[in-house]
Amino acid sequence: MALAIALALGVYAKAHTPGGRPIFTLWFSGMLQLKVWFTTAALALLLVQLATALWMWGRLPGVRATAGRSVAMTHRWSGAIAFTLTVPIAVHCMWALGFGTQDARVVAHSVAGCAFYGAYGAKMLGLRMRGLPSWGLPVMGGAVMALLVTIWLTAALWFFTRSGLPLT
Ligand code: HEM
Repeated sequence: MALAIALALGVYAKAHTPGGRPIFTLWFSGMLQLKVWFTTAALALLLVQLATALWMWGRLPGVRATAGRSVAMTHRWSGAIAFTLTVPIAVHCMWALGFGTQDARVVAHSVAGCAFYGAYGAKMLGLRMRGLPSWGLPVMGGAVMALLVTIWLTAALWFFTRSGLPLT
């Protein structure tokens, strides 16, 4: 399933002719700025995801209290908002830029972008699957996180190292 989603996105991004223009920029000075800040916000929310997931599994260092319903809800909502933030970015990446192959960084970014949605789909299914081994969800959640970190490193960090930290 994960592979099918990733492949479908990759094939679309590669096969169609990139639009080459921004779709919308909201209050940002350009699409690039919107994308790097939305990606950075999604990454920050994934840190909340990591902390709440460790808490629910009883592995958050220094915290002995059992995770209550509020922790589970924080995990669910921070994940939902992070995912929602990635959608307009990825649509723009695939529609306007396509599957970039100009250098290793851009290839790594495009592959991680497609794989992210595959891993996310697998994790959502995993949450509802009976008989999943206990390591299943942590591995899938870890893959989603690792892929977003890769996306951030290969796009947002790369942008910040070139242009500083423009706020809009
Ligand atoms: C979670 C999904 C994704 C996020 C958060 C994301 C984020 C970003 C960001 C922040 C940039 C830098 C701004 C820019 O150059 O416009 C970027 C660039 C780019 N993205 Fe994505 N992206 C995602 C998925 C994808 C996918 C699925 C593809 C294609 C298969 C893709 C292809 C590209 C390309 C070709 C660039 C230009 C790279 C360059 O020339 O520097 N991205 N992305």
